Amino acid sequence: MKNLKRLSQFASDLITCGSLYAIANYRIHSPIPLEAVENWDFWSKSRSSWFEFLARAYPPNSRRKAYLDYMLRRDHAIGIETHYDISNEFYALFLDAKYKFYSCAEFLSDEETLEKAQENKAKYLLSLLNLSGHEKILDLGCGWGAMMRFLQDAGHCGELTGFTLSRKQLTYNQKLGLNVSLTNFITAVWEHEPYDRILSIGALEHVRPKELKGLYQKMYDALAPGGLAVHQFFSFEREPYPALAILMQLFFPGSLLVIHRDHIEAAESVGFRITHDSIHDYKPTLRAWYERLIENQKKALKLVGLEVYNRYMTFFPVAWLFFDHKEAELHRIVMEKSSGPVAL
Ligand SMILES: C[S@@+](CC[C@H](N)C(=O)[O-])C[C@H]1O[C@@H](n2cnc3c(N)ncnc32)[C@H](O)[C@@H]1O
Repeated sequence: MKNLKRLSQFASDLITCGSLYAIANYRIHSPIPLEAVENWDFWSKSRSSWFEFLARAYPPNSRRKAYLDYMLRRDHAIGIETHYDISNEFYALFLDAKYKFYSCAEFLSDEETLEKAQENKAKYLLSLLNLSGHEKILDLGCGWGAMMRFLQDAGHCGELTGFTLSRKQLTYNQKLGLNVSLTNFITAVWEHEPYDRILSIGALEHVRPKELKGLYQKMYDALAPGGLAVHQFFSFEREPYPALAILMQLFFPGSLLVIHRDHIEAAESVGFRITHDSIHDYKPTLRAWYERLIENQKKALKLVGLEVYNRYMTFFPVAWLFFDHKEAELHRIVMEKSSGPVAL
């Protein structure tokens, strides 16, 4: 009976959301845990050109856009809860042990551990932040407080504030004594301005195309003259509504990436000067999280059950594919606010 339901869901997904979404959802609802090697190969190996063509052509662009518009009517908090408010213990099974960064690390060699690679990334961002030690910093989408703790460990003495939309992350951060609040950085008024630095790591992915310019304006206004905004995020490189954007709704309902040049144009239009924009490889981090999840399969199944386990087992290789096909790229960007009045 369950199998019949799964098959009928597959048929309906195929018509409304296309083949990639239907296959992923079918696999997520497997009655047994997805097998590590088969599952990774299933998503990462190249497919026949006719399948690739069909997967990208259906549903057609206008239907993809309509479906995504419908998904984007949801409150941000619902999408964030679905992805992040699962179980802090579950995330701890695959994130780096020390800081719990849930964002792209920087592997400098194949031998490096996830812990080392996350510290490499944090050091890279620290260099972009160009701190003297006393700046007031706002972390938009601070997750489990990873960068805030890294900054403290690096000896930063200035005030640190973090915003998240995840209640489970809030509880975690409060236990650590971090100054974090449940604040929607898109819709809420930011208090305690101005900030010397505004930081975001893996959070601008949740900002919808229509919200982008308003958010950059808010950042610009909240920064002190000469202040910096330092961001790590991934963005689409080519089309605004690729088939994979529909598939991603299985993992991040209500989020839609923005085209990279739109980020840059929006930031520049409010007055920011872009002083750094580098591209980094997300794939080794996704592979590392996948391997850790497999190592901890038993504990994961006990904590979150079969469907959620299979969802993450599907998410990591699908995201890997996303970067492998260069649908999106991971950027680290520095945006500078002028230190004097802007010339008109
Ligand atoms: C991928 S996690 C990254 C967390 C952290 N920066 C790190 O590197 O580990 C994305 C974070 O953005 C937060 N977030 C997304 N949209 C948000 C919004 N509109 N307001 C506040 N936080 C948001 C989520 O709650 C989550 O903490």
